[in-house]
Amino acid sequence: MEGKLVFAVNGKRFELAEVDPSTSLLEFLRTRTRFTGPKLGCGEGGCGACVVLLSTYDPVSDQVKDLSVSSCLTLLCSVHLCSITTTEGLGNSRDGFHPIHQRFTGFHASQCGFCTPGMCMSLFSALTNADKTNRPEPPNGFSKITKLEAEKAIAGNLCRCTGYRPIADVCRSFAADVDLEDLGLNTFWKKGEDAIVSKLPRHNRGKIFTFPHFLKSVVKTSLDTLMNGKNTNFLDSQWYRPTSFDGLYQLLNSNAFIGSRTKLVVGNTGSGVYKENNIYDKYIDLKGIPELSVIKRDHTGISFGAAVTISRAIEVLKENVDSVPSAEKMVFDKIADHLDKVASPFVRNMASLGGNLIMAQKFQFASDVTTILLAAGTTVCVRTASDRRILSLEDFLEWPPLDEKTILVSILIPSISMVELSYGTEQHSVSSHRSKSNIIFETYRAAPRPLGNAVSYLNSAFLAHVSSDKITGNTVLLYLHLAFGAYGSEHAIRARKVENFLVGKVLEVSVLLEAIKLLKETIIPKQGTPHSSYRSSLAVAFLFKFLQPLSKDLAVPENNYHNNASGVAVITEHPNENFNRNSDLSHHEASNSELFNSSSVLLSSNQMIQYGKEYQPVGVPIEKVGAEIQTSGEAIYVDDIPSPKDCLYGAFVYSTHPLACIKGIKFNPTLASEKIITYISVNDIPAGGKNVGSGTMFGTEPLFADSLTECAGQPLGLVVAETQRYANMAAKQANVQYSTENLEPPILSVEEAVRRSSFFDIPPFLYPQNVGNLSGGMAEAEHKILSAEVKLGSQYYFYMETQTSLAVPDEDNCIVVYSSTQCPETAQGLIAKCLGIPDHNVRVITRRVGGGFGGKAVRAIPVATACALAAYKLQRPVRMYLDRQTDMVITGGRHPMKINYSVGFKSDGKITALHVDLLINAGITKDVSPSIPYNVVGALRKYNWGALSFDIKVCRTNLPSKSAMRAPGEAQGSFIAETVIEHVAAYLSMDANLVRNKNLHTYESIKMFYGSSAGENPEYTLPAIVDELISSRSYFDRLEMVRHFNFCNKWRKRGISWVPIVHQVTLRPTPGKVSILNDSSIVVEVGGVELGQGLWTKVKQITAFGLGQLFEGGSQKLLDRVRIIQADTLSMVQGGWTAGSTTSESSCEAVRLSCSILADRLKSLKQSLEEKISSVSWETLISQANMQGVNLSASTYWVPGTDSMQYLNYGAAISEVEVDIATGATTIIRSDLIYDCGQSLNPAVDMGQIEGAFVQGIGFFMYEEVVENSDGLVVSDGTWTYKIPTIDTIPKHFNVKLLSSRHHQKRVLSSKASGEPPLLLAVSVHCATREAIRATRTEFSTNDTKSSALAFQFDAPATMPVVKELCGLNNVEKYLETFITTRQPPKDA
Ligand SMILES: Cc1cc2nc3c(=O)[nH]c(=O)nc-3n(C[C@H](O)[C@H](O)[C@H](O)COP(=O)(O)OP(=O)(O)OC[C@H]3O[C@@H](n4cnc5c(N)ncnc54)[C@H](O)[C@@H]3O)c2cc1C
Ligand code: FES
Ligand code: FES
Repeated sequence: MEGKLVFAVNGKRFELAEVDPSTSLLEFLRTRTRFTGPKLGCGEGGCGACVVLLSTYDPVSDQVKDLSVSSCLTLLCSVHLCSITTTEGLGNSRDGFHPIHQRFTGFHASQCGFCTPGMCMSLFSALTNADKTNRPEPPNGFSKITKLEAEKAIAGNLCRCTGYRPIADVCRSFAADVDLEDLGLNTFWKKGEDAIVSKLPRHNRGKIFTFPHFLKSVVKTSLDTLMNGKNTNFLDSQWYRPTSFDGLYQLLNSNAFIGSRTKLVVGNTGSGVYKENNIYDKYIDLKGIPELSVIKRDHTGISFGAAVTISRAIEVLKENVDSVPSAEKMVFDKIADHLDKVASPFVRNMASLGGNLIMAQKFQFASDVTTILLAAGTTVCVRTASDRRILSLEDFLEWPPLDEKTILVSILIPSISMVELSYGTEQHSVSSHRSKSNIIFETYRAAPRPLGNAVSYLNSAFLAHVSSDKITGNTVLLYLHLAFGAYGSEHAIRARKVENFLVGKVLEVSVLLEAIKLLKETIIPKQGTPHSSYRSSLAVAFLFKFLQPLSKDLAVPENNYHNNASGVAVITEHPNENFNRNSDLSHHEASNSELFNSSSVLLSSNQMIQYGKEYQPVGVPIEKVGAEIQTSGEAIYVDDIPSPKDCLYGAFVYSTHPLACIKGIKFNPTLASEKIITYISVNDIPAGGKNVGSGTMFGTEPLFADSLTECAGQPLGLVVAETQRYANMAAKQANVQYSTENLEPPILSVEEAVRRSSFFDIPPFLYPQNVGNLSGGMAEAEHKILSAEVKLGSQYYFYMETQTSLAVPDEDNCIVVYSSTQCPETAQGLIAKCLGIPDHNVRVITRRVGGGFGGKAVRAIPVATACALAAYKLQRPVRMYLDRQTDMVITGGRHPMKINYSVGFKSDGKITALHVDLLINAGITKDVSPSIPYNVVGALRKYNWGALSFDIKVCRTNLPSKSAMRAPGEAQGSFIAETVIEHVAAYLSMDANLVRNKNLHTYESIKMFYGSSAGENPEYTLPAIVDELISSRSYFDRLEMVRHFNFCNKWRKRGISWVPIVHQVTLRPTPGKVSILNDSSIVVEVGGVELGQGLWTKVKQITAFGLGQLFEGGSQKLLDRVRIIQADTLSMVQGGWTAGSTTSESSCEAVRLSCSILADRLKSLKQSLEEKISSVSWETLISQANMQGVNLSASTYWVPGTDSMQYLNYGAAISEVEVDIATGATTIIRSDLIYDCGQSLNPAVDMGQIEGAFVQGIGFFMYEEVVENSDGLVVSDGTWTYKIPTIDTIPKHFNVKLLSSRHHQKRVLSSKASGEPPLLLAVSVHCATREAIRATRTEFSTNDTKSSALAFQFDAPATMPVVKELCGLNNVEKYLETFITTRQPPKDA
């Protein structure tokens, strides 16, 4: 065992003598074990897909410690003597699933399932640790965890499908403080039935042994070795774990280390921040040096060894120690609270305090830890081989970047008495008859996610000793620490000038104003820092927040508002006439305080469904097919397929130049480059093949740039290596020589495309038709807004599984390609074209896709084609799993647009004419872009504009090709429509919601705008939906409360808005095949691919319905006999695309027809058998049919009729938000959605689609910002820079009703689509935010600026900087200046 790495995975022993020390735990689990539960979603600690439980054993106390960790960042060698539990270790299909698995399934909390294993492990870790505490025993069946803790456990885990609400329910279901009635739709009890814990899969505490006995013995033996002074170096001396500083320096100074690439590590989470594109040949694990893990607490403060993790530091800081004075406890508590927002639990469990400080010191990392510790007056101890020094954190940060041999030893957070001593101030708690003396400490951070897992735009922490004169009420600062960081500085700083200015002064308003001016001169982000004025203004807002309550002129009581259980703001006391407006920015977290100080993250939710019994089991909310194996990690995605023998791995080299000739490609002479086996480029396309990588009906696009690259992000070739990591690293070593000689400059904007007439044609049949007569409509108008402009950004798919493929050469010039794609059929054709072989030589297989959202349609094909080409050339299997960065850079995404509109309207808000000029940025190839105008206008027609005309240009630019993303074009069309409505309302100073109502379609007008898709009059359910949503008393009460709230609050504003949506969908021909096997089980094939949208579930239900008439136990029981199998292009032809929201229903219809054929064949046989025996079982029927030569397989190619291939979907949503004016953070207080799903095929699946789409829409309209550099290269290329919604950014109250509208003969069992249209409802959040901004601008406007306060261009996404900029970056200064002139807070404008 000596010299070997020993650990356990799910109880199984692993003993390794040889391993590349740079191997991550995830890489090992995925490539060297059979466990596929841990997934790779980002490789940077930002998504949680890879979370596993890491357990350690302390033989002295005989205690096991269990921690969730991100296995993508944890180095394998650092798990020596640890036990790893993956989701498979909790339970599985053979031994039985774990209650966590079962609850994920029963609460419908797993869609594509790619995030689910990581979610399960984050929750499992939280439950295990909560149950180990000495809290009182919870009621039977519950854990000791609280609701809030359970939800926070998954705050760092991303899910792109569900919208988190059902996942929150799973988490909360374990908490004793939950009211089970509050939990959402599930299979454990029906609505109206008693919700009792015994109906839930039982929470069995301690049932899983996380640390096997054998490993305990190994640990004990190893401890003896350590005590005998032996080091634990292993693996042929590539991984070192010195046990003393002497040992460390011996190593560092030894010959073996000279000239080698060596890395010192603790948690290695830093590699999530600074990606490693090259290989280290030696690692030194510092955790073995005992001094680095020592925690010491005495009168001087708490000293943490540098290797102490952030999680452990939080625990220690929160410990209740009797002797600690209250002020000190308060400081430690607040530091702990802030640390709790650093990264996520599974990162904090590995991340060391010291590692963080070193990253800040050496690499200018935007650290929170340094900022708060700086404010607390921290000192650090550093050492070299010969020297040891104690210095202030401030001096440490000022030092030149540390060299590799300087080690951070410990960090001392001083006690308050030590800080006091250094200033010679009085004891803080002393109060005399005249003055009161107090210590105040506050920390702030402005980040897109309130609970963490997002670095901040700016963070700050302030420590002050204040003395207030009881008689005059004046406050003076005796000393003050003002620390600011992460705003684009070299490191966190103390604002010394401001501190010196403020100390000793009475905190009058003029003093505050002066301090703020000084601060603005101090907080100046480095050149090139994004949103630099926003960041400076955050510093001002935070300082003001801190000081305002200390200034006797400005301190005012809190308001009387709170939100009741349904999310409605209520006043607890009636304000009297002299109501004191709350202008207090107060000492709270920068994000909206009251909403986050409650006992849970998601405050309430409601799902209302109705379902018919007519077509059972169709219409029943059964659980999703495959959900359980998704939770246990047994579901096989493409990258889970074991690598075939001799498999190689590919990684794209892509261009970083937008338009250039490629003169050559070299690879830097690094260790990573040595791993290259070959490089595949356009030159490797076989004779007869073509350079095609992808394509649509509009044309093909090249696989690799030939001699000319036309956008940054265009694949140039493929590096092939022995492992995926080597291939990825090697690809990053490419050094491409570009030349722009004789080339025009690239086109990087739609404006430039217009200037140079660079457009793609829109085929006439796809160019939308104008409606009515524009000039007539304009002439009718009493008012006009001419040439207003608005812009929409792009959106990246952020499927949790990145693009992936595995190509395996087969006999006779054939190839099998496993691809995670939404369109296997198209992939098949294009691969064949590229290789120059017939289609029937190419078999594309897709079992399930880990999220698609349109991005795995056209954009998945180049990955499949590249693998196929490499495999074909090398005659070896080649696979590829794109790293997140490459995926984000090359994949494109939603189309950004620039819109210019002119609108005519009457004084009552009735719009008479709208003209829209639309520039769509399509990127470099056509992809599906020529069809986008049709979709945009489709959604835009949702209002009766009187007359509607447009001029649309699809611009060809030198950017990665944009493609279809969930509701492609429709999301933008809906946004444009609401922008126009809002603008008209602002112009007329009317309530926008009245303008909406005024312009809602009648049945006649919707017919005019949508033609026959509008169907018959009763199908037009939108007015009824809107009526139900907004005519309720609660809506008008809420409107009133929002107004009142805004009157009473200066620094927080609310907005409420509703929007209707109309979304047209088109059904496409689709195949289906149903076969009954000898044992009477049923196997079904469909053209559609399971992307998480529940297609298989609906198909299974319809199969049971279709054949149920022949089954003695009824349709419901037949469900268990049905299996839907993977898409296979040679087994089922004409599979088409899984896109446009209608594949589920069309696949269902094809299957229903196939079942009818089978039923017809079997019915007469059944009748004849029944004449002989009284009851004919299904088995008997099928065996008889077999014997009599009945064909037990039937297939259909369903082609929708021309009169039923298009229909309209309707829905509406109200959203209410609160904007924190200090930071621009928007909290969605409540969203209520009503969506017409027709007769839902499965209400649980449709509910999941609606909630998931809505939250994805929130991402598009509010959070997700695709950023490019000046060459058009996407630089928001990871979880660090691109923020999709998380559990803490969804509506706090989230209610959805599925409207079950009437039967309709021409739709598939009267159902309607649910995949894409609900995304459009999220524009209600953007509109509500606009209302809140309006209220802010009105508050801070003067008479001169009043009109511009209402009308403003409000682009999407409405990120924090955008919102704050519109609210005003100088509101604090304005407020103080007005105060000085008027001696009181400004009145309402
Ligand atoms: C997803 C994610 C989100 C994050 N979010 C935040 C955030 O919001 N705010 C924030 O402040 N931080 C954040 N972090 C940073 C995180 O706190 C640091 O990555 C972590 O603390 C580093 O500790 P480590 O033990 O993993 O260091 P390692 O990765 O092991 O090491 C980091 C660097 O420090 C060196 N090093 C480590 N210890 C010592 C030592 N004692 N002496 C000398 N050199 C040493 C290493 O050689 C290496 O260069 C985030 C990190 C991740 C991955
Ligand atoms: S893959 Fe590890 S956190 Fe995303
Ligand atoms: S189910 Fe969470 S990412 Fe798909």
